Amino acid sequence: MLSQTSNVVELECSACGKKYDAGTEQHLCTCGKPLLARYDLRRAAATLMVENLKSRPRTLWRYAEVLPNDPPVSLGEGMTPLVHAKRLGASMRCQSGNLEWLYVKDEGLNPTGSFKARGMTAAVTRAKQLGARALAAPTAGNAGGALAAYAAAAGLPAVIVMPADTPSANVMECQAFGAKVVKLNGLISDCGKYVAEHKDAEGWYDVSTLKEPYRVEGKKTMGYELWEQFDGKLPDVILYPTGGGVGLIAMCKAFDEMQEMGWIGAERPRMVAVQAEGCAPIVRAWEAHQKSAQFFPNAATIASGLRVPGPLGDTLVLSMLRQTNGTALTVTDEEILHAGRELASLEGIFAAPEGAATVIAARKLAASGWIKPDEKVVLFNTGTGYKYSEVWQRALQSA
Ligand SMILES: Cc1ncc(COP(=O)(O)O)c(C=O)c1O
Ligand SMILES: [Zn+2]
Repeated sequence: MLSQTSNVVELECSACGKKYDAGTEQHLCTCGKPLLARYDLRRAAATLMVENLKSRPRTLWRYAEVLPNDPPVSLGEGMTPLVHAKRLGASMRCQSGNLEWLYVKDEGLNPTGSFKARGMTAAVTRAKQLGARALAAPTAGNAGGALAAYAAAAGLPAVIVMPADTPSANVMECQAFGAKVVKLNGLISDCGKYVAEHKDAEGWYDVSTLKEPYRVEGKKTMGYELWEQFDGKLPDVILYPTGGGVGLIAMCKAFDEMQEMGWIGAERPRMVAVQAEGCAPIVRAWEAHQKSAQFFPNAATIASGLRVPGPLGDTLVLSMLRQTNGTALTVTDEEILHAGRELASLEGIFAAPEGAATVIAARKLAASGWIKPDEKVVLFNTGTGYKYSEVWQRALQSA
């Protein structure tokens, strides 16, 4: 059921364009690809204006016109700080000067300490409205914690399926939120299979990455916030730690919507997918000029959120990198450990390893001349370091 005032018109397959009713529960297209929510943007633009935004609550629900219009299941997510990282920027050498306009969008300040809260507030809100009885998802860690928290806030049971070696903080938070935790000896891809195999018999509403349309909707608000925080402009470059790639897909969707609403022109930030050397399906495909990615064998990295060997949104991510003149590159675990310490000691940001990965990537792209000293560059720290005590112990031992 869709509220009468909802601007969501329909759901559309991201690959074949087939249309679906947004008023009932939908997951993947019959062709197997993700569905995206489409809005009446003319109607949205009539009230989604800077003057109106000023008086709205400082959560992502301030962008109500471009979100599902149901009573939000909210824990205060979004509107995270955009920190001007002056000292870190000054330490990055470009070919003609140092980086002056380097920013960190610190998603670690979201409820449950990661940007996964954004996707889950939207997905759980919609699932509850559609009458879901129990929610389930595979996770590399943070998405599970976020789902468990929002399910608790919605008064719904949740089942979280995770690799047995997921960081202990993620296991504890899920248990604390009252979710059922299933640990498997395998990767997130194996956990995804488990949910797919059990969901019908158990009556679970599948909230897996890109297998329902609204996690993207919540995450796209990162793009809207950048626009608002940069006073109606977008940065030149965005570096995003890419596992499933949902945040990257979602921000590009936000930019397309902004263009349709007349907020921006055809220009786009150059999107950079940062992956770990030990799990880099998108980077391998990018380097080989392929349109889709191969399953990455024996995936292993300390950045657990980047351990996604077979991302469902591979073709979308790759096409967005191409369309925005972006790029993709890897960093090693050793580099991540070092970069985490730099970000912490130079800027006071205690980052997740996934966020730290973007620091190395920016440094490499500045040195190669791909990033120019006068460009506005945003690094996404997608999670808090406080949930990664195992990784931080290693980082500090190697200091
Ligand atoms: C901290 C962190 N960063 C990045 C990612 C990757 O996110 P995405 O699926 O949007 O690429 C994850 C996913 O688990 C994560 O937990
Ligand atoms: Zn399709």
